[in-house]
Amino acid sequence: MKTIPITKLVPGMFVQSVTKQTGSIKIKNQGWVKTQAGINNLIKAGILEVEIDPDKTLIDSVPEKDPIATPTTKIKRDPWQKINSAEQEMGKAKKLYDEAKTLQIKAFKDIKAGRDIDIAPFRELASGFMDSVFRNQDALACLTQMRQKDAYLLEHSINVSILMGIFAKHLNIEKDTIVELTTGALLHDIGKIKIPDEVLNKPGRFTDDEFKIMKMHSLFSKEILEDSGLTGIAVDIAGMHHERLDGKGYPFGKKGDEISQYVRMASMVDVYDALTAERVYKAGMEPIKAFKILKDGCPDSFDPVLLNKFIQCIGIHPVGTLVRLSSQRVGLVTKSNPGAPLKPVVKTFYSAKHSRYTEVKDIDLSNKKTVDTLESAVKPKEYNIDLERFYKNSILS
Ligand SMILES: [Fe+2]
Repeated sequence: MKTIPITKLVPGMFVQSVTKQTGSIKIKNQGWVKTQAGINNLIKAGILEVEIDPDKTLIDSVPEKDPIATPTTKIKRDPWQKINSAEQEMGKAKKLYDEAKTLQIKAFKDIKAGRDIDIAPFRELASGFMDSVFRNQDALACLTQMRQKDAYLLEHSINVSILMGIFAKHLNIEKDTIVELTTGALLHDIGKIKIPDEVLNKPGRFTDDEFKIMKMHSLFSKEILEDSGLTGIAVDIAGMHHERLDGKGYPFGKKGDEISQYVRMASMVDVYDALTAERVYKAGMEPIKAFKILKDGCPDSFDPVLLNKFIQCIGIHPVGTLVRLSSQRVGLVTKSNPGAPLKPVVKTFYSAKHSRYTEVKDIDLSNKKTVDTLESAVKPKEYNIDLERFYKNSILS
């Protein structure tokens, strides 16, 4: 436990208790500080000092040593490359996303027909994802949030690939390696096509036998990729994304140093996307809750240094998240702000106070003139908001 002045409290920290105050507030529930607005309320209530649990803190304030990047792996941006705004990039990003779906469907068909997969278009797509992420990552990031409940298998691999690209860029990993990482992520679950539908799509818990069958998918993925001529990082990701650092993962039970940094990244991103995904039988989890589950899995399952970097990279409210502001305006996060994760740009289009749609307005929470603050992430269902409708009407493009 560590005692800190309230001025040092930041969102993502876990508050255990109040240690000094001018009033007589009792924190009933210990928990994570989610927003700056929450901290401001504590300050207003006269809280001067709090006790935090550093082990539970989601974002460490001291940057740790970069586990992968070295000065020689820094990416040099192509001089001709134009950096787009998210709006400009959205059209290209949507096209890539659709291409990814078409490619996945074709690969499923190929495997079912006993053919190998043609890897070249996947590499090209992975390279396209990477270029889009470098032009403006917010466009593809936004698409990872627009999920269709019944397209999980298809969208999960695409989303893991995009998130891996964004994460790898954040870690300054060199471009050739990013293409390998995103290709591996695109195909990491391809072996699921060999799992019987009744097991694959079972909504409840697996029986022991079903779980044994399900666990085979990463082995199948590895075999399919090897048969299709892939080697190296991409095959490692496909075969080992369910391995865990303590050796309790599958299919090989590898542990510690036997699991590369790239596979560690993929295993984390895979779980993050699975938890936050909207499914037919469950609502998607808020990113902050998914981060907590991953944090609880450190260091037994996941690498704490990498997780910390992943949280910094994705942010507590990623692009595409529906949020409510203190003015009770509701909108989508459309631009991340890595320096101040709680002050993104939000496109508002709904009033929670009046329960009606409003004029679309961009609010930059980092602008000094903006008085609005981010209150919390909300579910579209809370306000009966049809996100898909706004998406189709190109609110973001
Ligand atoms: Fe998997």
